[in-house]
Amino acid sequence: MSYDFERPQGSKDEIYQVVYKQIESLVEGECDLIANMANVAAILHQSFGFWWTGFYRVLPKSLNGQDVEYELVLGPFQGPVACMHIGYGKGVCGSSWKEKRTLLVPDVDLFPGHIACSSLSKSEVVVPLFKGEEVIAVLDIDSDKLATFDEIDQFWLEKIVKLL
Ligand code: SME
Repeated sequence: MSYDFERPQGSKDEIYQVVYKQIESLVEGECDLIANMANVAAILHQSFGFWWTGFYRVLPKSLNGQDVEYELVLGPFQGPVACMHIGYGKGVCGSSWKEKRTLLVPDVDLFPGHIACSSLSKSEVVVPLFKGEEVIAVLDIDSDKLATFDEIDQFWLEKIVKLL
């Protein structure tokens, strides 16, 4: 099977329709979460030309061997090097995890506590992935332009993470 990439054309909604089908068929035969996250990041990143596209997973932090605390740890991504650990409630990603909802941030400089992994990132969307009631990861997408993300992105990205 060839995976040569052709960037889809059309409106944002039309591109998401194509991307959704591609992701659906790719994850269908694969049960490993990391492998699927890696391909989802690649497809979204290439299809839309985002600045940074990737996942942070909720993982236990080793404390004293008894107490367990959780944090977000960098997972599969496309784009520049990013920060590796994000605390609960910190930045846009940690807030999305805490609030258990998608956050659309039109201007990251106006988001209190935004974690600037790259000064070129201007707007952001973060979508939580659930296992039952619990958030197990977040999908984080950054754009180098202001106000890139809206309800269309939210609709499709929430649908896409449900495939994982
Ligand atoms: N800006 C994010 C941190 C992750 S990087 O953008 C890849 C935040 O505030 O959570």
